[in-house]
Amino acid sequence: MSVNCGGKFIVFEGCDGVGKSTQVKLLAEKLSDLGQKVCVTREPGGTEAGEKIRDLLKETRKIDPICEVLLMFAARRDHFVKLILPKIQDGYFVICDRFYYSSLVYQGILKQVSVGDIMRLKQMTVGDFEPDLTIILDLDVDISIERVKMRCNFDEYDEMSRIRYSTVREGFCKVSAAFPFCTTLINADGSPGAVFSKILKTIRQHLNVSV
Ligand code: TMP
Repeated sequence: MSVNCGGKFIVFEGCDGVGKSTQVKLLAEKLSDLGQKVCVTREPGGTEAGEKIRDLLKETRKIDPICEVLLMFAARRDHFVKLILPKIQDGYFVICDRFYYSSLVYQGILKQVSVGDIMRLKQMTVGDFEPDLTIILDLDVDISIERVKMRCNFDEYDEMSRIRYSTVREGFCKVSAAFPFCTTLINADGSPGAVFSKILKTIRQHLNVSV
């Protein structure tokens, strides 16, 4: 599926606590200041059904990994048809906190759902659609864990052991190595401003956008 229009789809990925939300916000502000139309969204979520699925995932304890991946892709399909695609076709910069690489890492690498099955679900729900750019933020796991602990909504859904964080971090590095042309791995250690400068440089290089 090709999307032929002025909009761009930029995805932020990485372990919980790497600073994705901060960078999503900074980029949205920057692009808005430059007069671009901007839509900020997240996965799972972004639509009414997607947010309900997000709540369901958060509230349900010990969900089967296959059920989990099916719910992720159900939310993704709704998000794609109702929000992502229409906004891109309308010329928006859609900035999304997570997309299907998260399924490859969290359900595939972490919970051993077959990568073939995940890619079939990807094909079924979004076809050949891919982000224009995926920025993967990489950070030392101890720093990520401390940041997550400082958040007041630290619950079982995002409470992972150090091993789990390390597996997820390594998973994103593997995904980045497997898709070198459409992903950029950025070291997220440093002030939000310093990390943001690296992100802007990447956007200039990959998307030919003046930021
Ligand atoms: P976050 O939006 O605060 O980053 O939390 C979303 C959580 O959902 C995070 O722990 C990663 C997880 N997740 C998956 O397991 N699979 C997916 O496909 C997506 C999009 C998120």
